[in-house]
Amino acid sequence: MEQAALFTIFGGTGDLAKRKLYPSLFRLYKKGNLKDHFAVIGTARRPWSDEHYREVVKETLQELNPTTEEAEEFSSHFYYLSHNVNDTKHYDELRVLTEKLDEQYDLSSNRIYYLAMAPQFFGTIVQHLQSQRIVTKDGFNRLVIEKPFGFDYESANELNQQIRAVFPEKDIFRIDHYLGKEMIQNIAVVRFANNIFESMWNNRYIDNIQITFSESLGVEDRGGYYENSGALKDMVQNHILQVVSLLAMEVPVSFSDESLRLEKVKALEAIRRYTPEEVEENFVRGQYDAGELDNTKFVSYRKEPNVAEDSSTETFVAGKFLIDNFRWSGVPFYIRTGKRMTEKGTRINVIFKQVPVNVFHFDNEDKQELAQNVLTIYIQPTEGFSLTLNGKQIGQGFNPEPVKMDFRQSAEVTENSPEAYEKLLLDALRGDGTNFSHWDEVANSWEIVDRIRQTWDQSTPEFPNYAAGTMGPKAAFELLEKNGHEWNWHPDNWYRERGKLN
Ligand code: BG6
Repeated sequence: MEQAALFTIFGGTGDLAKRKLYPSLFRLYKKGNLKDHFAVIGTARRPWSDEHYREVVKETLQELNPTTEEAEEFSSHFYYLSHNVNDTKHYDELRVLTEKLDEQYDLSSNRIYYLAMAPQFFGTIVQHLQSQRIVTKDGFNRLVIEKPFGFDYESANELNQQIRAVFPEKDIFRIDHYLGKEMIQNIAVVRFANNIFESMWNNRYIDNIQITFSESLGVEDRGGYYENSGALKDMVQNHILQVVSLLAMEVPVSFSDESLRLEKVKALEAIRRYTPEEVEENFVRGQYDAGELDNTKFVSYRKEPNVAEDSSTETFVAGKFLIDNFRWSGVPFYIRTGKRMTEKGTRINVIFKQVPVNVFHFDNEDKQELAQNVLTIYIQPTEGFSLTLNGKQIGQGFNPEPVKMDFRQSAEVTENSPEAYEKLLLDALRGDGTNFSHWDEVANSWEIVDRIRQTWDQSTPEFPNYAAGTMGPKAAFELLEKNGHEWNWHPDNWYRERGKLN
């Protein structure tokens, strides 16, 4: 159960380390995946002592209610090294500490390097890890990296070459934290363990698929990063295209990381590469204006800290992907994501086609259409799935009406299930790459997204174009209407009906 390893965290004083990594390592420690044979080196520029670092680590555990002894014992495995990533001498110090801890904790030279830093430093870090002989042939050497992985295909490719010069693909773990989420992992199970779905999972039975990643928060204090990214690169290039590939891929030969990857990559390759005209037709961008929801007022994006007053950065994207293969030809995959939308909610709606002929008569003349069958996969905040079917209205006649079969995990189960980072760290510790993005996936995603970005960069958008608290600009609704579709989920209606949203 226990796996011996040394974690070296570059960016050890940063937000990600404090919010996600230390608490996740602690959970693994509590479960016995980390026990006596592990150590953590935190590095960053600041001149901290081990004592101070351990205090910081302990503070990050507060919500997990450790006993004093547990917190002490756990944090005693943490060591701090002030480090300038460009200074070769510092890597020599790092090697000395690495070797010392390796011996002290009997770690068999198993090393995980976690780069929780801006990607411009990845190249120099990995080169130094090799040139200063920190990477050895004795145990395992694995590299865990955070997004953004480049800012377009070219820069991502360059970055990839730099890290591949030192680490083979099987030892590179590119984090997409959505792949650690319980219900994202469940997509494969819902599809491949249920014949009723998999046998209908194609263009003969599915009308369209809708993927919504809405966020109620604004850009918060991340204006500096976000101004250079925007919703397209922040969410679509990684998380959303990963979900599209999981929904669209063929059944893998087995559930191994290689088989899964092969199918995901094939699905991404089949996504149509749009011409500039097709981008204009199929993709919509938005930026939030000031707004009010449920008596709370929000400022516009352009008034957020570290955001330009005339910013053209999109905080919202909606679009239609088309997949040109036998299974999916003709089925739109609609996606939307944005900041300052009505609710935080990640869900997938699979909308099935109607029966070929409606043999029922409706008493009510207005309701001539049968409701479509919809499978909804709820990713967050609630986790579960529902299926909307048609049943008979009670009473005289044969009036069909939609009924929803709804399964949600209890709050208790959801709260106690492992957090995404905990699962991903354990995967990396075990060397299982299933829930990470392979280079071929990243490369395809950039190719798809670059075309959208390049087209958008040719013109200045009319921003802002949606009020904070709404589900995005009008054009995001028209995008579906022009195909005779509509968004299945509209949380804004609930607020409008109650006078809480204009
Ligand atoms: C991150 C984005 O990758 O995902 C953020 O950079 C976004 O902008 C976040 O808020 C959403 O993740 P989650 O887990 O809160 O849904």
